[in-house]
Amino acid sequence: MDHFEIRDGALHAEQVALAEIGCEVGTPVYVYSRATLERHARVFREALSSLPKVHIAFAVKSNPNLAVLRVLAREGYGADVVSEGEMNRALAAGMPAGDIVFSGVGKSKRELTAAVRAGIGQFNLESEEEGVELAGIAASLGLRATCALRVNPDVDAGTHAKISTGKAENKFGVPYDRAAAIYARLSALEGLEMHGLAVHIGSQISDLEPSRKAFVKMGALMRELREQGLTVSHMDLGGGLGVPYKPGESLPTPAEYGAMVAEVAGDWGVTVMFEPGRVITGNAGVLVTEVIRVKEGASAPWVVVDAAMNDLARPAMYDAWHDFSAVQPTGETMLANVVGPICESSDTFAKNREIDVVKAGDLAVFRTAGAYGATMANTYNSRALVPEVMVDGDKWAIVAERIEPATILAAEQVPDWLD
Ligand code: LLP
Repeated sequence: MDHFEIRDGALHAEQVALAEIGCEVGTPVYVYSRATLERHARVFREALSSLPKVHIAFAVKSNPNLAVLRVLAREGYGADVVSEGEMNRALAAGMPAGDIVFSGVGKSKRELTAAVRAGIGQFNLESEEEGVELAGIAASLGLRATCALRVNPDVDAGTHAKISTGKAENKFGVPYDRAAAIYARLSALEGLEMHGLAVHIGSQISDLEPSRKAFVKMGALMRELREQGLTVSHMDLGGGLGVPYKPGESLPTPAEYGAMVAEVAGDWGVTVMFEPGRVITGNAGVLVTEVIRVKEGASAPWVVVDAAMNDLARPAMYDAWHDFSAVQPTGETMLANVVGPICESSDTFAKNREIDVVKAGDLAVFRTAGAYGATMANTYNSRALVPEVMVDGDKWAIVAERIEPATILAAEQVPDWLD
């Protein structure tokens, strides 16, 4: 459920007309609903309430906007970060360092050092090599780094290949059958405190069975480690729960996911940790765009909008579907292709799709754009970096300014010797 609704014939975010934001800020622009973010954060937490001890670390990669992070910090969420940049954002948003999990297969020496110094709550180690390096850094600072070992369970999440992470052929984690030995060796290192295991099999997961399979395997590994006298007090089950993008699409609910986790992990005697991203932010954002013109096409007209694949990369990258609807719908529909202005054919949002009738100058939105939207934006074709707005009831504010191409140009130089 979200708070983007038609009121008096026009699409609103909570009580604010999207046309007002589009006109004042200009398009394209991302718009987030605070009430939706809070609702999702609470529904997800509530779904896990039967587990004795839970820690939720929001996957910052899905939406790193500072205001979004602040909303989630106020909901008691920690953060799952994958770079020093994300770590600093989470800290700037007021999330305590101890509530931050540092994930990622390629944490650099600089990042590991900064994170140890900051007092990050948990490092999810992706290899023995990383653990040895981190142990050295922590010991040299006279500190101990608290860690979980990320295990690759070799389970197919059944999602898009580009966002699947839990198969043996994926680069993530240590192989399941070597995990116990690696955990034992890392536990013996002075600079580390190994306190648990981590797993994450993929994103936009639409079937709970692969996750259940992976979690059951993690439970068996946990018992094996405990039998060896090793400590396992934390189990990080990652993120990945999908959201509906198409009308009528049905996905497992947070409640169903929570019930599955409780069934598998309810008696593990650990703090169960989660790293949700999309399920919190996905439906809490839309991308508002203006129709530049409608051009005649061979089979269907081309609706050319001012948002492009640099602003919302998911359709070009993963053939993802984002619903397209008019901000002031007439009730009539047309068959059309929706495309952006970028000079390549992958800049296509919808092919031969039944959409609201729109004409040049109309505003429209791509829905479910709050996750992996603005954060994956770039400036290809020397376009601006898209701005972001947050709505809260009847008020709204710009939470990330548009970075103009002129600002980016100003950071470039032509060396003297070229002249
Ligand atoms: N934890 C780890 C270790 C992850 O790698 C990810 C996502 C998450 C948590 C959060 O997953 P979520 O709950 O959001 O599914 N750009 C792609 C998605 C990439 C996901 C990468 N990892 C997209 O637009 O679909």
